Amino acid sequence: MTDQEIFEWLQKNNSRDLERLFRKAYAVKEEIVKKTVYFRGIIELSNICEKNCFYCGIRKDVSVNRYCLTRKEILQCAEFAFANDYGSLVLQAGERKDDAYIRFINETITQIKALSEGRLGITLSLGEQSYDVYKKWFDLGAHRYLLRIETSSETLYQRLHPADHSFHNRIQCLRDLKTIGYQVGTGVMIGLPHQKIEDLVRDIRFFSEYDIDMIGMGPYIPQERAPLSTQPVDLDLNFILALKMIALTRIVMPDINIAATTALQALDPNGREKALKAGANILMPNITPQQYRADYQLYNDKPCIEEEPLLCLGCLESRIKSLGETIGYDQWGDSIHFEKRSKK
Ligand code: 5AD
Ligand code: SF4
Ligand code: FES
Repeated sequence: MTDQEIFEWLQKNNSRDLERLFRKAYAVKEEIVKKTVYFRGIIELSNICEKNCFYCGIRKDVSVNRYCLTRKEILQCAEFAFANDYGSLVLQAGERKDDAYIRFINETITQIKALSEGRLGITLSLGEQSYDVYKKWFDLGAHRYLLRIETSSETLYQRLHPADHSFHNRIQCLRDLKTIGYQVGTGVMIGLPHQKIEDLVRDIRFFSEYDIDMIGMGPYIPQERAPLSTQPVDLDLNFILALKMIALTRIVMPDINIAATTALQALDPNGREKALKAGANILMPNITPQQYRADYQLYNDKPCIEEEPLLCLGCLESRIKSLGETIGYDQWGDSIHFEKRSKK
């Protein structure tokens, strides 16, 4: 697909065109990654963050009850994931770089590996870190890392972040992760204030130029405690735009893993199913203990704040069955793209 074609699809909004695009993307998905959905249970282990991204509901300057799960609580979540045959889990948190925290994560990775005899895959989503820290975590057994670029436009990135947040460092982190041997995931927010269609086209090119293995992207949703929320956006449009981005990314990069993100479900009760129908193949059920969920609201109307992990699991199972897809229980579900890349 040429940039011009991507641009044109991103501008189409009538339901017949959308149907055509989603069907095309689904056909690519069926052929290449098949109709299996892989689960990554996500543990939001802490909302303490050193950063101050203008869009985020747990940025340093907002007043929210800060928590960090104990190691025991994290291990209980991991046991839940393992007992329910989730192939892998994601450890996500706000960004912290102090030594005590790094050691805490080191130990946590080691213990999760031990409790599952190495069978639970571990994906990290713990922000920007040094090469050595990434390397240490990889050596301890983490094998995938998610770090969204948020937008591939440097000028837009600067409008969304304070001056000391560096676009170039993010890119360097993505490079380091790849050098070390991680499967690398990135992604963007869709429908940001001042974001142009051209920026989104460039985002898709960015994914392919950086040879990314996994994508997690969703609509931007204002969070009332964050400064960016004073700038209005059209949420209906953002939702459709996000689905189109998923479909186009699937067509451009047929063998990568693409997540149906929770932010989509915040805007439409069937948002994640619609994303699976538009080419996504990964779901990230939230397995954070219920009592912490209200304090991890990066954006407004985040779903499943009141639900216990087991309830989410049953709910997701029936949603997936209704689409005629199967769940890849007990499998890591690595991106085919990564397998090919590592054989090169
Ligand atoms: N709307 C949508 N996504 C958001 N994120 C943070 N704040 C928002 C928001 N207001 C996303 C960012 C970050 C991920 C963990 O959550 O893309 O990388
Ligand atoms: Fe921190 Fe991530 Fe939120 Fe930025 S988006 S403030 S790094 S949790
Ligand atoms: Fe949480 Fe449906 S996914 S209740």
